[in-house]
Amino acid sequence: MSERPRLASRERFLMRDALPGGLPFGEDIRLGLTSRPKSIPPRYFYDPLGSALFTAICELPEYTITRAETEILRGSAAAMARMFAAPARVVELGSGDSRKSSLLLEALLERQPALTYVPIDVDAGVLESSARELLASNPSLTIEAVCADFRDIAELLTPASGRTVALFLGSTIGNLDPPAAASLLRNIRRILARGDVLLLGADLRKPKEILEPAYNDALGVTAAFNLNLLTRINRELGGHFDVAKFAHRAFFNEEASRIEMHLASRERQSISIDALRLDVHFEAGETIHTENSYKYTDGDIDTLAREGGFDVQQRWRDAGMSFTDVLMVAR
Ligand code: AVJ
Repeated sequence: MSERPRLASRERFLMRDALPGGLPFGEDIRLGLTSRPKSIPPRYFYDPLGSALFTAICELPEYTITRAETEILRGSAAAMARMFAAPARVVELGSGDSRKSSLLLEALLERQPALTYVPIDVDAGVLESSARELLASNPSLTIEAVCADFRDIAELLTPASGRTVALFLGSTIGNLDPPAAASLLRNIRRILARGDVLLLGADLRKPKEILEPAYNDALGVTAAFNLNLLTRINRELGGHFDVAKFAHRAFFNEEASRIEMHLASRERQSISIDALRLDVHFEAGETIHTENSYKYTDGDIDTLAREGGFDVQQRWRDAGMSFTDVLMVAR
């Protein structure tokens, strides 16, 4: 009896796994931990526990990004949907749980009979669970999920017939340094036609007294999110990290306008990683740089848009002036 709706929603869901084969995690860990200074790319935060911890971060009183952007989208989704002008597909980079984008998808579906949503994320589990929820509440939605690194967007997708709207929300752009951010926008531009739009969400630059607590929350959730990288290396690569021997560090680098997150070794130690046949030495206080979160001004966003091949069309801010969503048109 419940067979038909389930089948129907399966036909409306397709997932393509475009993650590279082999041991890309291991090879990136080898590269990062044998470099000086040591580093790990932030996309590796998002294993199942890491995604759950990130969802918890979004609820923290100190962390304003998700609430501020949700406020903007709640207030302006209808206006945004009107400006999107009946797209055939919505492509989202780093879709995560799709909670914010669902506000836009639902606003679009009030205006048009059908829509294809193309979420791109490195976490297959989160793609599947969010798709299930979206399909259940939106019977005219089709989902073509892609499990991949969104930086490969231009190789993963081709320009479509009909309009495309690209979404890059939540200040995920903040993880990229300015040249990489501009190059990503150029790659997004390649899957769009002239006149198609990108909605970009960026956290605004604020005094460090406000920014730093967001990454040093009182409950220690961000510390757990950061330290979970070591747990992941232990589990997936046979690492021998003692998480208690590393400390979470996060601070605002004013010159670079970015929050930096690091894992600092509490003592001099050597750690072996079995699957990599690697021993990693740490001096006391030495850090692994795990994330940058760049904070933007309106001017920074203008520059980024121009370098990426877009013209800024409209900006929105939350009432607290903490976050901005910017609609830009492909030139
Ligand atoms: C998902 C990249 C926007 O930089 O604020 C949250 C990730 N790191 N707390 C951010 C994050 C630590 C987040 N982004």
